[in-house]
Amino acid sequence: MDDRRYRAENRVHWDELAAHHPETDHYDVDGFLDGASTIRSLERTELDVCDRRLLHLQCHFGLDTISWVRDEGAAHATGVDFSPTAIETARELREAVGLSVEQVRFVESDVYDVGDVIDEQFDVVVTTYGTIYWLPDLAPWAAAIADRLAPGGTFYIADGHPLAGMFHHESTAADLRFTYPYFNEEAITEEIDGSYAGWDFGLEQQRSHGFAHGLGEIVTALVEAGLRIEFLHEHPWSFFQRFDAMVEDEPGRWVLPDVPYELPLTFSLKATRN
Ligand SMILES: C[S@@+](CC[C@H](N)C(=O)[O-])C[C@H]1O[C@@H](n2cnc3c(N)ncnc32)[C@H](O)[C@@H]1O
Repeated sequence: MDDRRYRAENRVHWDELAAHHPETDHYDVDGFLDGASTIRSLERTELDVCDRRLLHLQCHFGLDTISWVRDEGAAHATGVDFSPTAIETARELREAVGLSVEQVRFVESDVYDVGDVIDEQFDVVVTTYGTIYWLPDLAPWAAAIADRLAPGGTFYIADGHPLAGMFHHESTAADLRFTYPYFNEEAITEEIDGSYAGWDFGLEQQRSHGFAHGLGEIVTALVEAGLRIEFLHEHPWSFFQRFDAMVEDEPGRWVLPDVPYELPLTFSLKATRN
């Protein structure tokens, strides 16, 4: 199967998930509508969006995109996702919270093609939590980011650490079960009726394709696209319950108990366009 076919199937899969996710406790849309920001303390601490124009890639149904403007001080945000259902819901939520299209806009596009539908450049390009796993190749992704960044602009990503992505969800400290690749060797094709946000949705398109990307591949793709890496941080907690045995150490931070040494479970990276 070629890259285009992988992404076409993923798009149908994600479009179905986008119809179910707003109803889940995971997303707590009511809390968001009541004013709770969905931005986590990690990116709030590491990324300054104040008065800056922001491009949010793989925005899903827009909670973070809207939060960056409503709650975190960004001047404007553009959210991009290839799921039409996600984009439609995002636009409805934008209206529900009373923001205008001059403040937040949503554009349906594959992340690889973002330069075809958006020609402006941004102070910040951001993508967080569950994004590059869905992309077969990071070179066109990094090129699209560099292309949309204004000179001196900032790119920021926070996501699951690729090492943590290697283990089965039933792993424990005593039994880390190697299940998935670290390097991008082949597509990880799975049939799952659900996601991190819930199960048994009754999805018609249960098959999806993910891609492992090691830290070296991520950094090199960005450097080759012309970005300068400011930092690459590795964190010993996960932003979701990746393994069944994990416990929530503090709100939104999950750890595996009884490990002799801490595992890298999340990474964050900031880079600048020269
Ligand atoms: C795990 S979700 C991101 C979740 C987001 N951090 C949140 O919590 O709302 C992944 C998103 O990537 C989108 N996506 C996957 N592959 C894509 C692609 N090639 N181009 C654009 N969007 C894509 C999906 O539609 C989905 O909305």
